Amino acid sequence: MKTINIIGAGRVGRTLAHLWHKTGVFAVQDVCTQSLFSAQEAVQFIEAGRAVCRIDDMRAADVWMLAVPDGHIKLVAEGLAKFIQKQAVSGVKIADGAIVFHCSGALPASELQALGALNAHTASAHALLSFSSPARAAQQFAGSLCALEGDDLAVAKLKKAFEQIGGQCFELATNDKILYHAAAVFATNFVPVLHSVATDLWQQTGVPAHMIEPLCNTLLQNAVNNIQVQGAAQALTGPAARGDTGLVTVQSQAVTAWNASAGQAYDALSHLATHLAMKAAK
Ligand SMILES: NC(=O)c1ccc[n+]([C@@H]2O[C@H](COP(=O)([O-])OP(=O)(O)OC[C@H]3O[C@@H](n4cnc5c(N)ncnc54)[C@H](OP(=O)(O)O)[C@@H]3O)[C@@H](O)[C@H]2O)c1
Repeated sequence: MKTINIIGAGRVGRTLAHLWHKTGVFAVQDVCTQSLFSAQEAVQFIEAGRAVCRIDDMRAADVWMLAVPDGHIKLVAEGLAKFIQKQAVSGVKIADGAIVFHCSGALPASELQALGALNAHTASAHALLSFSSPARAAQQFAGSLCALEGDDLAVAKLKKAFEQIGGQCFELATNDKILYHAAAVFATNFVPVLHSVATDLWQQTGVPAHMIEPLCNTLLQNAVNNIQVQGAAQALTGPAARGDTGLVTVQSQAVTAWNASAGQAYDALSHLATHLAMKAAK
């Protein structure tokens, strides 16, 4: 069985490592996070691996997953490259021909350039799932779409590994990554934000507190059902969709007075809603 080392074992790292361990796809070897405590917790969740908190304590492996926050990927890759070069002086080949990938949806495989320069095969692999907690994500993962980008060999091997835990893979062009990821932000990350703004507004307007959560949930469920059955354009309702510009203006002013950012969001979304309604009318 191929070995995998993990650097960064939060929501995504723990989930994927756990699934690969359970299905016997990879033997989970070293698990490195910023604090040893967190690495130990990760190993406990994964049910395999050895917890470390320094890259210098990691052993050679066939595959390396960097599941650190996007802003850390390049630095971690450079740190790993330095360690590999140091080890190479004494003849130890840590990542020669190994596959190294990160999990960012927005950033390309070239963030790992420092490792590519040392003969590692580099890629990015982004699972389109909201990993809100490792336990939930592990249950929800099967059927998730996974976007792969990078070196051909790395992409081919990762495709197999992700498919073995139930992922559905497709390849993404490097230049498309930013907008591809922005689409995911619209599709999933903004939904809880809108939910929370609506909750805050209802609290301000005296809707009985115990009714707010069921109200939000019912409307969310209705919207999801309508989009699934009718498509987004036909499911659209509300003042912008009806062309009620007077109400849109008054509402925009009231929301802006309450919260300037929410007012800007209201205006931008009303603009997009008007365009969507026009598309539906064609
Ligand atoms: N969350 C999602 O829904 C989701 C979905 C798809 C893709 N992704 C991508 O997956 C990646 C990880 O996201 P996440 O949500 O799993 O992040 P996370 O839950 O915040 O976990 C980040 C992990 O990285 C570790 N870490 C941070 N800096 C490090 C360093 N310099 N060296 C070693 N370990 C370091 C942290 O260690 P400590 O625990 O010790 O702080 C933690 O274990 C990101 O690229 C993200 O874009 C996320």
